[in-house]
Amino acid sequence: THVIGEPCIGVKDASCAAICPVACIHDAGDRYAIDPDRCIDCGACIAVCPVSAIMPIALRPTEWREMPG
Ligand code: SF4
Ligand code: F3S
Repeated sequence: THVIGEPCIGVKDASCAAICPVACIHDAGDRYAIDPDRCIDCGACIAVCPVSAIMPIALRPTEWREMPG
């Protein structure tokens, strides 16, 4: 799965949710989040995020690890 981290907080651009082919990105309060059971790892959301908040879970910075989705 891919994950959305701290840079999304307070920005919530939502371009990622609009482009996701399986519509697995949702508003999670202070940020958006990805449903790990539905994400197909296409990577389309990465390029459209203006604050680079999205990446494959394997590359997630350690300071994001407590953030689900
Ligand atoms: Fe959606 Fe693809 Fe991003 Fe997963 S990697 S959240 S399927 S756009
Ligand atoms: Fe957040 Fe970037 Fe999506 S700011 S809502 S992860 S486009």
